[in-house]
Amino acid sequence: MQRKPVVVLISGSGSNLQALLDWSHRADSHYEIVGVLSNRPEAYGLTRAKQAGVPVAVVDHTLFDSRESFDAALVEQIDLWKPEWVVLAGFMRILTPVFTDHYLGRAVNIHPSLLPKYRGLHTHRRALEAGDAEHGLSIHFVTSELDGGPIICQQAVPVEGQDTEESLQKKVHAQEHLTYPRVVEALARGLIRYCPPHACLHDTPLQKPLDLEALDALLADSPAAVG
Ligand code: GAR
Repeated sequence: MQRKPVVVLISGSGSNLQALLDWSHRADSHYEIVGVLSNRPEAYGLTRAKQAGVPVAVVDHTLFDSRESFDAALVEQIDLWKPEWVVLAGFMRILTPVFTDHYLGRAVNIHPSLLPKYRGLHTHRRALEAGDAEHGLSIHFVTSELDGGPIICQQAVPVEGQDTEESLQKKVHAQEHLTYPRVVEALARGLIRYCPPHACLHDTPLQKPLDLEALDALLADSPAAVG
């Protein structure tokens, strides 16, 4: 089996990167991580990648005088690794069309909220302040609209009376670590793709985002559609 090459972009701890790496080490994984790029030299995720024997690169955004020139440097480095998929896992930079047009339909992002709620930062705090009964995560194709591309997956978690920003973040993280590798596996198998303006499953626009249970059922039912 030819595994699909994936590049992961990070800015920090890289716990999602770790979950993606762990899945990629399974004998039946349809993807392999061929490079990890961080915009922050001190990101702990770089250590995780090195421990897994994956090549790393740093493109430090503070060294660029415009978002466009930073994005051009990102694209140059990422394309050296020739990925089929670009996976943003806690990559905390706003991207311009220099990046988003180049990888349209080939880049996905994970965001810690049930989009379209709470685009941007401090999502756990905002869900608590709003008194939401549910919070969660979204995984979507990357387009030029910040946190606005077609959604592939959403997984909710309950917000309980005693929850704090930290406890909520922990709950969401735990679900991120389960869902993100499964979504990347489904992409690598050719089961999900970008069909503008939708995310499509088996060539049909998704009626609603997949949750963890639906992802598990999909992967159990569907061998690779390609390669
Ligand atoms: C994750 O919770 C991810 O959803 C979030 O950053 C965290 C990274 O954690 N992403 C965003 O906020 C993007 N807007 P990690 O470095 O431990 O994977």
